Amino acid sequence: MLLVWLSFLAVALFSLPVDGFPQATAVAPQVTAVAAKGGGGGERGGGGGTITGSGIPNVTDAKNPVCVPWYGIRDAIMGGIFQGRCGDNARAAIRLAFHDAGTFSLALQANALPNGGADGSLLVDPNEVLRSENNGLQNIVSLLKPLPAQFGVSPGDILHLAGVLAVLACPGGPVIPAYVGRSAPRNIAPTGLLPDPEDSVNVLLARFADMGFKSREVMALIGAHTTGKQRFVDPAAANTTFDTTVQIWDTRFCNTPLDTETADPTTVLPGTFKLDSDVNFATNPTTAPDFNRFIGKQDDWMSEYAAAHEKMSLLGFQAKDLTDCSEILPLAIDLKNLAEATTGKGKPPTDPVIDPVKLEAAIQQFRSIWLVSQ
Ligand code: HEM
Ligand SMILES: *[C@@H]1O[C@H](CO)[C@@H](O)[C@H](O)[C@H]1NC(C)=O
Ligand SMILES: *[C@@H]1O[C@H](CO)[C@@H](O)[C@H](O)[C@H]1NC(C)=O
Repeated sequence: MLLVWLSFLAVALFSLPVDGFPQATAVAPQVTAVAAKGGGGGERGGGGGTITGSGIPNVTDAKNPVCVPWYGIRDAIMGGIFQGRCGDNARAAIRLAFHDAGTFSLALQANALPNGGADGSLLVDPNEVLRSENNGLQNIVSLLKPLPAQFGVSPGDILHLAGVLAVLACPGGPVIPAYVGRSAPRNIAPTGLLPDPEDSVNVLLARFADMGFKSREVMALIGAHTTGKQRFVDPAAANTTFDTTVQIWDTRFCNTPLDTETADPTTVLPGTFKLDSDVNFATNPTTAPDFNRFIGKQDDWMSEYAAAHEKMSLLGFQAKDLTDCSEILPLAIDLKNLAEATTGKGKPPTDPVIDPVKLEAAIQQFRSIWLVSQ
């Protein structure tokens, strides 16, 4: 049992609980119920009973009957659309989750006005997706659009499960609780509620406050740009990325707006792009401490990001009205043991370089059933 566990652990790692010990329930000879540490801090994800070498929960071990159909839906999204990888579709799905939920407004809600929220309206309304702020999301929308009817579930559930799975498709991405049971969207989201990179820090923070987010939560959320590309801000530089490791959910993005190497916000590394809003967050006295506190702090960021994304996926809904189907989620791929060996002694580098061979081995093992053979 111990040997099985150790060799399992040796290749690629999922998150460990705070005390640093893997929680393996000993039902020899199988490795069972390893709780990936989700962002909310609870034991969530990977909880579907017996875990195979892939760490992907199997429907045959489903716990909650409500969640049974969601195993197949998980595979349709994670396999059929993302192919188990942090590619264009996964990245777009993360942004889509924000653009669907980010139209929520406490002020509109208080006045009983048509409101946005994590309702999946972007999958339903033919016009919302055509708005300029949603440029680049049309392809992922057309891929997800048939799923609600195909599986008989709501668009909000599909769209936000896709967001949660997309973060897990990106190595380093945390487990975010996955809820199901959202009702159908009631209206097209109002316009003018999504942030613009040219907005000032004050305007941006006010808009996020109207969604219900504190500044610190916004700084955690914005780290999603770790897997971002831009196409429409500067079309001449289409496909430039927000950090140098676009396929990895690391904290490297936090260094990028300021550029720790030169400490000069105007320096742009080759192939990368800095959104003005990200540079402003990293340098404005109000937001800089919270933005920069995640540099080199992968675990802190993973847990704070996951909590903020969970909240985002519930905007306009309440967890108590929904079912937590986190049991369907695969284990998070932890970057800790995927770093290249370093020669330095003592403190690990704040920004470890990921070894591509170890990274691919982790993907092959922990995302196995969804990968497409080349
Ligand atoms: C101040 C708030 C934000 C602003 C101004 C902003 C702006 C942008 C812009 C302009 C792009 C590039 C779009 C393009 O040209 O293709 C982008 C990409 C992206 N954003 Fe944000 N964003 C914000 C917050 C967020 C949040 C909260 C999330 C998720 C939690 C997020 C996730 C992403 C992702 C994943 C991409 C990359 C999409 C891709 O590569 O296809 N953003 N964002
Ligand atoms: C679930 O387990 C069954 C029976 O062991 C197996 O045939 C199937 O491939 C597994 N599915 C997944 C998604 O791992
Ligand atoms: C950007 O990437 C997409 C695929 O992700 C590709 O189709 C497109 O040609 C690229 N554009 C440029 C300018 O490189």
